[in-house]
Amino acid sequence: MRIAVAGGTGRIGRLVVAHLDREGHEAVSLSRGEGVDLLTGVGLRQRLQDVDAVIDATNPPVSDIADAEHAFATITRNLLIAKAEAGVGHHVALSIAALDDVAGNAHYYGKRAQEREVAAGAVPYTIVRATQFHDFPAMIAEWTVVDGEAIVPPLLLQPIAPADVAAALVDAATAGPVSGSFDVAGPRTEDAVDMARRTLAVRGQDLPLRAAWRGAALGVEFAGEVLLPAAGARLAPTSFDDWLAAGAL
Ligand SMILES: NC(=O)c1ccc[n+]([C@@H]2O[C@H](COP(=O)([O-])OP(=O)(O)OC[C@H]3O[C@@H](n4cnc5c(N)ncnc54)[C@H](OP(=O)(O)O)[C@@H]3O)[C@@H](O)[C@H]2O)c1
Repeated sequence: MRIAVAGGTGRIGRLVVAHLDREGHEAVSLSRGEGVDLLTGVGLRQRLQDVDAVIDATNPPVSDIADAEHAFATITRNLLIAKAEAGVGHHVALSIAALDDVAGNAHYYGKRAQEREVAAGAVPYTIVRATQFHDFPAMIAEWTVVDGEAIVPPLLLQPIAPADVAAALVDAATAGPVSGSFDVAGPRTEDAVDMARRTLAVRGQDLPLRAAWRGAALGVEFAGEVLLPAAGARLAPTSFDDWLAAGAL
């Protein structure tokens, strides 16, 4: 198949492109760095010729709720309009597990706006809702460093390996549209503070951590079991321990 990857140069997008190559498909990456701005539509139409499906793994930079809703909705709308014109028959969106259960976070508002556009659009679709990636706790540690110490909220996660997310997106694209969503998660629950500490250690980064909600990048709306996948989620094989042992890449 010929599959376009919106955000094909990003963390997940690059792995999707690599997975498509390995499986003998043709990948067409769409990003601003490659001359395609999905917020304006510049460069998009000519890249969708003979494409069978689009996987959307974009992550536009956003500053607040209104900005996030505008960016995710506009990118989705531009993709869907161009796809309807080009006759592309399947839109696969990467979303987040437990999206409807977390209030007050701009990124989540943006992702909900994205899902609404996908469901209302004219193109048959599949929404893949992933739990947090194995590198998420180390990433949020680096977001909030106060006096040389990173503040990490004590999240309960059921994290998934980035490569398993990419595989789930490719599987969804090749299987055809379900016009609905499903969750994908890793095999077991983990503590975010422990994950951040061990990831930074494997990467040789010397950053002291403090477990706290106050001052952390994510608030108490993320506490408890809210981030765990829905019952019936598809479970991917790579545990956090496996991912660390393979170098935390
Ligand atoms: N991190 C997690 O734990 C987690 C969990 C579940 C779901 N997700 C979802 O995963 C998605 C992908 O995240 P990621 O970390 O892989 O993202 P990322 O590394 O930040 O990559 C973002 C990609 O989007 C492209 N992009 C941004 N704005 C664009 C625009 N206007 N036009 C075209 N391309 C644009 C970027 O390329 P250019 O900058 O060159 O345009 C880049 O290729 C996000 O939507 C997030 O909600 C993340």
